[in-house]
Amino acid sequence: MSTAKTALIIGASRGLGLGLVKTLLADGWQVTATVRNPQNAEALQALGKVRIEKLDLDDQQAVLALSQQLKGEVFDLLFVNAGVKGPDVQTPNGGATMAEVGQLFFTNAVAPINLAERFVGQIRPDTGVLAFMSSVLGSVTMPDAPELALYKASKAALNSMTNSFVTQLGDTRLTVLSLHPGWVKTDMGGEGADIDVETSTRGLVDQVNAFVAKGGHHFINYRGETIPW
Ligand SMILES: NC(=O)c1ccc[n+]([C@@H]2O[C@H](COP(=O)([O-])OP(=O)(O)OC[C@H]3O[C@@H](n4cnc5c(N)ncnc54)[C@H](OP(=O)(O)O)[C@@H]3O)[C@@H](O)[C@H]2O)c1
Repeated sequence: MSTAKTALIIGASRGLGLGLVKTLLADGWQVTATVRNPQNAEALQALGKVRIEKLDLDDQQAVLALSQQLKGEVFDLLFVNAGVKGPDVQTPNGGATMAEVGQLFFTNAVAPINLAERFVGQIRPDTGVLAFMSSVLGSVTMPDAPELALYKASKAALNSMTNSFVTQLGDTRLTVLSLHPGWVKTDMGGEGADIDVETSTRGLVDQVNAFVAKGGHHFINYRGETIPW
């Protein structure tokens, strides 16, 4: 008898996180998913057999508490999906405050790595996958969307933080993915985006499966195409 694979999805109240849970459940995975506001988890609850935990990714005490609570559990996949777009105006003199910029970089780049540090010991040795929701906009020579300069830099920072994290892991066969989901119709992506959530998350889960036991750190999109750093 084969046992179900286990996943921990961070940031699953809506959009791509919710879609990832849906796709994984359809594939027979056992899923634990976090939301920062359990009152806002109806859509997740409606998916059925998913364990829901409360977590604001920015709250370091809460990250520690969750890691204690889930101590002893092993995950085939840890997917840090939560992220924010940041201030409305992101051009140099657009008036973004220090607090807004700090919040953006903390949530998108620093907090995901802090969480990964806490949970890396609970990812299945040899075959486990650690995935971060990056973006092609984090590719440093990408000319698109200069109006999202701060968001783009926050995803470049996430990729860089991930690189430092992986380097410090030393000898490991853990596979680490920095994933671009495509331009997706969500609250963040908007209605004019290229693809729907289901297309993106189907592709993302396919890539997670394809990269099992490969090791290393890869920056790819939902179709498995490599993106230049
Ligand atoms: N949509 C796209 O086209 C696109 C393209 C490239 C990359 N991405 C990335 O994909 C990820 C998901 O984006 P999306 O399009 O699904 O965006 P979304 O619809 O705005 O959803 C964002 C999700 O992140 C959660 N979140 C934000 N800050 C959090 C925090 N501090 N702690 C815990 N959860 C938090 C939100 O929870 P609440 O409901 O509580 O706010 C929500 O579940 C993000 O990292 C985004 O940067 C998206």
